[in-house]
Amino acid sequence: MSVLRISDLTIDYRLGEGSVRAVDHVSLEIEAGEAVGIVGESGCGKTTLGLSVPLLLPTNASISDGQIVLNGESLIGRSEEEMNHLRWKSVAFVFQGAMNALNPVHRIDKQILEAIQTHEPETSKDDAQARVLELIELVGISPSRAKSYPHEFSGGMRQRAMIAMSLACRPSLLIADEPTTALDVISQAQILALLGELRRQENLSLVMISHDLSAIKKVCDRIVVMYAGVIVESGPTDTVLRRKNGVVTAAHPYTKALMGAHPDLSGERILAPGLVGNPPDLSKPITGCRFAARCPEAMEVCRTQTPPTVTITPGHSAACHLAVRSAS
Ligand SMILES: Nc1ncnc2c1ncn2[C@@H]1O[C@H](COP(=O)(O)OP(=O)(O)OP(=O)(O)O)[C@@H](O)[C@H]1O
Ligand SMILES: [Mg+2]
Repeated sequence: MSVLRISDLTIDYRLGEGSVRAVDHVSLEIEAGEAVGIVGESGCGKTTLGLSVPLLLPTNASISDGQIVLNGESLIGRSEEEMNHLRWKSVAFVFQGAMNALNPVHRIDKQILEAIQTHEPETSKDDAQARVLELIELVGISPSRAKSYPHEFSGGMRQRAMIAMSLACRPSLLIADEPTTALDVISQAQILALLGELRRQENLSLVMISHDLSAIKKVCDRIVVMYAGVIVESGPTDTVLRRKNGVVTAAHPYTKALMGAHPDLSGERILAPGLVGNPPDLSKPITGCRFAARCPEAMEVCRTQTPPTVTITPGHSAACHLAVRSAS
C-alpha cells in the first residue's frame, strides 16, 4: 500500500484582492520505504506541497481541489486535534531552516523528551528517556552531548537533533525541506548519509525537498521535478538524472536545464545553456506549457496547449509536447 497518495492537489494563497496558485493539480504517490526527491527552482511550490501533507499550510493558503491520503486515511478536512496526533505519529516534517528553530534555552535531550511526552502521553517517563537516548544515538550524536544546549552544537549537529526530534514518535513518513542547504559540504554529506541510513534502518518513507540534484541522486529512488506549481517530470532518479557520453535521458527541457546548472563533479560535465528569464506569474491564468517562454525547444503548440503527461518508460513520465511527439 502507498504511504502517501496525493491526487489532483491544488493550493491557492490569498494575496490582497487576488491569489497565487502555488500548486496546480499535482498527483504523487509514495510507497512504503521509498525515498522521493522534489526539485525545482525557488517559488515552484515545493514547500507548499510538502506542508500540505501534515496540513501545516499558512493561514492564507487554501486547498481548493484534490485529495491527500496518508496510510489509507484521507486528511483534508481533519480537525486540528486529529492532525496533531497524525503529525508526529504518521508524518513528521523537518522545516526549511529548521535547525535554527530549536529552543535556545533548553537542552537537546529535554526538547526531544518533551516532544515524546506531548504527543505520546501514555509513554512512561523512563521509556521516553530511553527513547531520547536511542534517537540521539540513531542520528549520530554522542550520548555524552545529549545535555548540550543548541548553541553548543554545530549546524550539522543541530540538524541531526531536529531529525531526531522529528522521529520522536516513529512516523512512517518524513518530509525534509532543504535539510542540507545551510550546511557546509562535509555536514551536508553526513546528513545525506544519515537520511539514507534512517530510511533503511527504520523503514522510513522519505520525501526530500532540495535544490540540489546531487543530494537527491545520493538519497532518493525517485525524483519529481516541479516547475511553476506543476510536476513536469518524474521517474527513477537513475533514469532521469543519467548522463552518458553527453546524452541525457531526462525528457523535459526544464529537467535538462536544471542538470546543466548542476554539473556532476563525480561524472561527466555537460555545458547546457543557462536558463534565461523567470517562471511565470502564478497569480494569472497560464495558457499552454508553463515553461514555453524559457524553453529552447519550444514549438508553436507549446504556447497554446497544456502538455499532457506522457509515460516514456514504465515509471518515467513527463508533461511535454516533445515527449508526446516522441511517443507517437
Ligand atoms: N504565505 C504565502 N503567501 C502568499 N504566497 C506565498 C506564501 N508562501 C508561498 N507563496 C508563494 O507560493 C509559491 C510557491 O512557494 P513555495 O514556498 O512553496 O516555493 P518553493 O519551491 O518551496 O521555493 P524555495 O525553493 O524558495 O523554498 C511562490 O510563488 C510563493 O511566492
Ligand atoms: Mg521552499
